[in-house]
Amino acid sequence: MGYAQIIGTGGYLPEKILTNFDLEKIVDTSHEWIVERTGIHQRHIAAAHETSLTMAENAAHVAMNAAGIMPAEIGMIIVATTTPEKTFPSTACLLQQRLGIAGCPAFDLNSTACAGFVYALSIADQFIRQGAINNAMVIGSEVMSRVVDWSDRTISILFGDGAGAVILGAAEQPGVLSTHLHADGTHKDVLFLPNHIGNVTDVDTELYMQMNGKQLFKLSVNILGHLFDETLAANNLKKSDVNWLVPHQANIRIIEAMAKKLDLPMERVAITLNEQGNTSAASIPLALDKAIRDTRIKRGDMLLLEGFGGGLAWGSALIKY
Ligand code: UT7
Repeated sequence: MGYAQIIGTGGYLPEKILTNFDLEKIVDTSHEWIVERTGIHQRHIAAAHETSLTMAENAAHVAMNAAGIMPAEIGMIIVATTTPEKTFPSTACLLQQRLGIAGCPAFDLNSTACAGFVYALSIADQFIRQGAINNAMVIGSEVMSRVVDWSDRTISILFGDGAGAVILGAAEQPGVLSTHLHADGTHKDVLFLPNHIGNVTDVDTELYMQMNGKQLFKLSVNILGHLFDETLAANNLKKSDVNWLVPHQANIRIIEAMAKKLDLPMERVAITLNEQGNTSAASIPLALDKAIRDTRIKRGDMLLLEGFGGGLAWGSALIKY
């Protein structure tokens, strides 16, 4: 059995930027409060014509270019998104059609929210390891701006839009060393997006995302701490073996706590939160792409990716880049 290696990454961010100062004009908040409590300075917002599909397509082309492969070489497409173009066909099928590569499996992971990218990466990794496919396209793409209540200051300040893509290719050397996925539905009410489809008794429920931020904050710090221990133990590694933390970008205080847990200086943490806010399933591949592109992350570095979100669902991936 071989490994799956990251052979290319790409990202796409909408042109429009919404700053904290812009938000001050929409809700009762301040730049100072948002920076101090979250670390966010601005976020990108999709234009009316942009969707999770168009952003995924843009990121996909950049990633394929970086990997030096053609669409026909892709053996599987997975798009992690809570804001898909349609309920079905999947964003991945629509992307496949645009890439002109009918035949390979293509599907969305819709409901793993901010943990979606790590879940998708884990699935693609299994297929490559088993030799079933050679290359997989794993994308996180979100238009969170369409599911936040812009009049709710506790949630609208947090999120942004964007897409990140990773091409995994079969390799003899590692690669993805291990992935660890978890979920706990007892925390279903901490973060959720009501969906009327398939639920006739729920038609009057809120259209927008709901979150108990304080509870989620505490839960995430706790579960991520255990997740790191599990990930390192499974690979017989120490904290000092990790060169980079590539976290889900939810709150700088959560990220700082996680860096501390790993004894990593913040210079060794891939951060995009300040510029992009929380882009849900897109946040990890966007952070990864940025740090690879500006050459901070180098071949041979040991990367720890972690994501958590609604479900609760959470997971990690340890990757020798
Ligand atoms: O990918 C999804 C994952 N999401 C997360 O992980 C979110 C995790 N949670 C968080 O990031 C934080 O809990 C928040 C950023 C959402 C909130 O920060 P906090 O430090 O937990 O603030 P808080 O909810 O305890 O609110 C503190 C105060 C309250 O006022 P009082 O009751 O002390 O008078 C809030 O009403 O801040 C007030 N507040 C605001 N003030 C200005 C809440 N939101 C805002 C705001 N601007 N936007």
